[in-house]
Amino acid sequence: MARALQPKDREVTAERLLDSSARNSYSPDIDVDWTAPLHEGKAFMPFERVSLYGTELWERLTPEQRVELSKHEIASMASVGLWFEIVLMQLLARYVYDLDPRTAHAQYALTELGDETRHSIMFAKAVSKTGAPAYGPNRITRALGRWFGGLASGPPMFASVLVAEETTDRVQRAMMDDPEIQPMIRMVNRIHVIEEARHVRFAREEVVRGLKGVGRLRLEFYRLVTALTAYAVVDCMIHPKVYAAVGIDPREGRRVALANPHHQEHRRWMSEKVVEFLTEVGLIGGPSKRIWKRGYLL
Ligand SMILES: [Fe+2]
Ligand SMILES: [Fe+2]
Repeated sequence: MARALQPKDREVTAERLLDSSARNSYSPDIDVDWTAPLHEGKAFMPFERVSLYGTELWERLTPEQRVELSKHEIASMASVGLWFEIVLMQLLARYVYDLDPRTAHAQYALTELGDETRHSIMFAKAVSKTGAPAYGPNRITRALGRWFGGLASGPPMFASVLVAEETTDRVQRAMMDDPEIQPMIRMVNRIHVIEEARHVRFAREEVVRGLKGVGRLRLEFYRLVTALTAYAVVDCMIHPKVYAAVGIDPREGRRVALANPHHQEHRRWMSEKVVEFLTEVGLIGGPSKRIWKRGYLL
């Protein structure tokens, strides 16, 4: 991919993405049946994707508590996703500010901004429907997000967007057709997976273009920003307070989840595809690789 991209490809890609968006886009108001009741006893995400799965704490939970924890974890992920969509909207709005609005590239950036607005509403409605709190990221990450949304640009910006989009995508893809999961969650996931495939294409190409001719020192800086953002985004997906919903002390729950080999493997699985891409283009490497390992992303 890195070698094949030419400047004119930017417009060709954008035109394709615009065409696909016009043919296949969804509205959170029309395409999800928010009035349908939740299915009693049905999980909100596959149990093997729940952070405590496989631990002693998990063994002690009743089937009802397991469903309850899956509900709170998906609500945490959706509200962190929602938070990141808002950061992303700021990034996109700043990105498009300097572009020629007549280009398909600028128009696709605006289209993506529109997609993310609808996704935010969809995630907000989904969290609300579960009845769980909108956990969102922890306070520090929330503060960093405000800073990141107002300042980030270039390859680390698009790379961070990719980490958030591709890790979420992997989880959503794995359950969008799973009959064991709540139909409302399945539909939300399906819509997001379809629209995000275009965003991933857009961001991946921008990462490749932005890295052309970048010197050693700058590359290390880009790697560091990307690694830190990836760590922060994935680490805050499960808010410690979710454990309190099933009577587990939040600090104990988080400690057990982080030490859980199953959960560590889950994190690596989530980031596998984006890690492969970022390694190929050179954005993972050097000293900052340790940060990826520390977050169980590698
Ligand atoms: Fe989205
Ligand atoms: Fe997106």
